[in-house]
Amino acid sequence: MQTILKELEDRRQRAKLGGGEKRIAAQHAKGKLTARERVDLLLDEGSFEEWDMFVEHRCADFDMDQEHIPGDGVVIGYGTVNGRLVFVFSQDFTVYGGSLSEAHAEKICKLMDQAMKVGAPVIGLNDSGGARIQEGVASLGGYAEVFQRNVMASGVIPQISMIMGPCAGGAVYSPAITDFIFMVQDSSYMFVTGPDVVKTVTHESVTAEELGGASTHSSKSGVADLAFDNDIDALLKLRRFINYLPANNKQKPPVWPSEDPADRAEMSLDTIVPDDPNKPYDIKEVILKVADEQEFFELQPSYARNIVTGFIRIEGSTVGVVANQPLVLAGCLDIDASKKAARFIRFCDAFNIPVLTFVDVPGFMPGTSQEHGGIIKHGAKLLYAYAECTVPKVTVITRKAYGGAYDVMASKHLRGDVNFAWPKAEIAVMGPKGAVEIIFRKDIGDAEKIAARTEEYRQKFANPFIAGKRGYIDDVIMPHNTRKRIARSLAMLRDKELTNPWKKHGNIPL
Ligand code: HXC
Repeated sequence: MQTILKELEDRRQRAKLGGGEKRIAAQHAKGKLTARERVDLLLDEGSFEEWDMFVEHRCADFDMDQEHIPGDGVVIGYGTVNGRLVFVFSQDFTVYGGSLSEAHAEKICKLMDQAMKVGAPVIGLNDSGGARIQEGVASLGGYAEVFQRNVMASGVIPQISMIMGPCAGGAVYSPAITDFIFMVQDSSYMFVTGPDVVKTVTHESVTAEELGGASTHSSKSGVADLAFDNDIDALLKLRRFINYLPANNKQKPPVWPSEDPADRAEMSLDTIVPDDPNKPYDIKEVILKVADEQEFFELQPSYARNIVTGFIRIEGSTVGVVANQPLVLAGCLDIDASKKAARFIRFCDAFNIPVLTFVDVPGFMPGTSQEHGGIIKHGAKLLYAYAECTVPKVTVITRKAYGGAYDVMASKHLRGDVNFAWPKAEIAVMGPKGAVEIIFRKDIGDAEKIAARTEEYRQKFANPFIAGKRGYIDDVIMPHNTRKRIARSLAMLRDKELTNPWKKHGNIPL
């Protein structure tokens, strides 16, 4: 018995060493943690249950039969984050560069299958040189098995990808299907083809960082939801992020104790909107003042900054926030903003997270670049996402709600449950100046007449009461009471039930 126990312990130690001390030192020298150190940091202390530590590859080509490293480059298992179950796989770059073999893929698939059976999130810590080159098509098959599971799990359990090293070639498509992609500054990159291929095909010279580093994907491409400073920062923030999510699509988000009174008044909100309708203000200030403990977990803060998305809590429960940002492009909706918000709303809807929308939008962005880029289809994504969404929807129009953008931004007509407006809200087809210049074009040379007409239009339409008369707005509220009114609405909506007609699936304008 002693011998067997000794052998077990030896085998465990060998597996835990991955690719060996030298490669671990190299990993640390790059400022990266090892796969196991990452798991330890992510999960509650002592909660990790590891599986498949002894799995090995089955490849005999290119002398691969001479070396077998137990675990085969990925650590898998389950544990808890603040007491809540999660499944995690963590690729071990010290073992064949974390490359994905058939056996490595089988481990990830096993984990995902189990997570689906019990209904808990899957977190992937990605650090991999891609397909195990020695294995050829077997590793490609492995990737496709993972992709298929990613798609089946989409909308059933939350899937989060943390990119902590290379992620290239077709390998990027597994994270791409997951709900959130987070990256680590300076040590992670994602691209379909690397700088060398780019150089050969397009003659462009570009570094890996420029092509697919964390800054690029969190600000230019929108592929990544957030970029963190280093491994430790990334994993600690990931723990905070998981606290917002339900375990699966049948559960509601967790409720955390909150000391913040639901009826807390915020007098500063009464003066936050400037008198001049063309002057901006920071909508994030409104979000923070409404949120429990003024905490806001923002997603994609550096991408499509004209719309703000992220999670807050109200009375301890997660709420997804979508808000036009008057500070950037006057809060106009453009292609990127529409895509960013649409995807976020669909996540909230899939996972029973109410959507709170703050509206201050002068319209869709005009111009050839937007039209030629397909704003019609991309803007429709946002409209579609709001319209199909069945979770509680509370909307607050803080200032402008013009034109099609009024309709799109969770209006009553798109099944908004509770639609509020602040007293300075202007709900109209367009701003008074633009409206008058069109309907009184013949008077354009007469400044006095135009000014009088503009004022007339403003008096008539640039207020919330026309919409209020029709019941498109449920109430005009005092800004300082916004938190209280939202909290009451969400409490009323807690057991909301609404189902869409049966269909195989809709056809969102992709
Ligand atoms: C097998 C690999 C590997 C791979 C790296 N290694 N990538 N082994 N298959 N894909 C091994 C290296 O041989 C090396 O082994 C160790 O991992 C560390 O790699 P280094 O090159 O020393 O590390 P570094 O300098 O940091 O460079 C990392 C890297 C580079 C940029 C990822 O290794 C690289 O370019 N790898 C190949 C990437 C690639 O082309 N993958 C296929 C993509 S296509 P030793 O023993 O020396 O430590 C793909 C298709 C997926 O993935 C399709 C899905 C549909």
